Amino acid sequence: MPPRLLPTPLQSPLRRLRVNAGEQLEILDQTLLPWHKEWRRVTTLADAEHAIIAMQVRGAPLIGIIAAYGVALGLQESDASDNALNAISARLAATRPTAVNLGWALSVICERLRPIPVGQRVAAAWLEADAIAEEDARNNQLIGANGLKLLQYIAASHPPRTLQVMTHCNAGWLATARHGTALAPVYAARQAGLPVHVWVSETRPRNQGLLTAWELQEAGVPHTLIADNAAGLLILQGRVDAVIVGADRVAANGDVANKIGTCLKALAAAHQCLPFYVAAPFSTLDFNAATGDDIPIETRNDDELRLVTGVDNHNQADCLRQIAEGHSVYNPAFDITPAALVTGIITELGVSAASEPALARLRESEDR
Ligand code: MRU
Repeated sequence: MPPRLLPTPLQSPLRRLRVNAGEQLEILDQTLLPWHKEWRRVTTLADAEHAIIAMQVRGAPLIGIIAAYGVALGLQESDASDNALNAISARLAATRPTAVNLGWALSVICERLRPIPVGQRVAAAWLEADAIAEEDARNNQLIGANGLKLLQYIAASHPPRTLQVMTHCNAGWLATARHGTALAPVYAARQAGLPVHVWVSETRPRNQGLLTAWELQEAGVPHTLIADNAAGLLILQGRVDAVIVGADRVAANGDVANKIGTCLKALAAAHQCLPFYVAAPFSTLDFNAATGDDIPIETRNDDELRLVTGVDNHNQADCLRQIAEGHSVYNPAFDITPAALVTGIITELGVSAASEPALARLRESEDR
């Protein structure tokens, strides 16, 4: 049977495959982008765990989706009992700590599977994982529509010229099921005929900005890659109209955990009185975290700082050492942007202030 693509007007970083009697997944290996576009089979629970840990898939919503498919793969290779379900979920939950979508997706799928008879759980798990992916795709579209209204408003308050948006990391279609989060409003603006240019910061040390540059290039969206350290200059020179970033977790008071380097952009934007928006699905809000201090920050392997990756003259992926093995380094993967620096949070439910009462109201509207 040919691969079944998730429905997408753009592209999707994952495909669900039916192979003989079983099911498998194919992922676009993001560790090889932007140099090589290679799909990789994910056929076991261990493959799914590895894909998340090694960042072959990354971005908070996509991590959650792959974890849901990881449950289906894990059940497929076990007796699908309650014990197996708990053990599979615990293994996947331990892969990366900061993106709350991981825990959210695992609790949703486990809750939906527990009442289902053991013999029907594998088939149900694949359908539930599909449902989580499809829900994310719908949310992406709504985030895009809600963000577009803001961009149109910002554009209307400027002399007619191309709107200058700055983003950080990659919160586009590579990080989600369809349109992305921070990039969804940009894609929506393009579709609506609003001229937009994106400043893409490199996002050291994992360089997710290169992924953003790659996907904007593929989509024909004008953009310019900058070193992370260039962001302050551009913002203070008035060459940016709005900053939009994604989020890995938003605390109940509106503090935002996002890729390391986000907070510096928020500080510069606040100094310049620029709108600084965070785009994320409602599932990225963590009401169990009262403030950013309650959000676990992932510290990643030191070699991400000691080595640099690229391709050689023969287009072969290669790694170069930039500082001696054993040299002292510190590699936190995320930072916390205080709620006071965030103009608003764009979710599928609308645009909300980054404050405890506003997010509590959003939660009430979600519960209804
Ligand atoms: O470490 P990553 O690449 O998985 O980081 C997550 C992110 O992609 C970003 O922090 C992003 O802005 C939020 S997820 C759409």
